[in-house]
Amino acid sequence: NILEAAHENDIELEGTPFFHFILSFGLFLSNYSGACECSLACSTCHVIVMDTEYYNKLEEPTDEENDMLDLAFALTETSRLGCQVI
Ligand code: FES
Repeated sequence: NILEAAHENDIELEGTPFFHFILSFGLFLSNYSGACECSLACSTCHVIVMDTEYYNKLEEPTDEENDMLDLAFALTETSRLGCQVI
């Protein structure tokens, strides 16, 4: 998933040319993104997919992901949980 790929490759997510997403406020500056280790128990891996064409190619979020997204800061129409996007 996007979150693991970013962590493993020490990728600075903001402004990357392929995915075009940003982390929600504060998470980018800390090690808290992915606090629940992808178990859908937090929203610290919130990402905003800036490329709507790419967003539309993603699988629909599950009800569990949507429930957690509702708790995310600055939720947008193209918000996803980074740990759920493959
Ligand atoms: Fe907690 Fe993604 S890391 S839901």
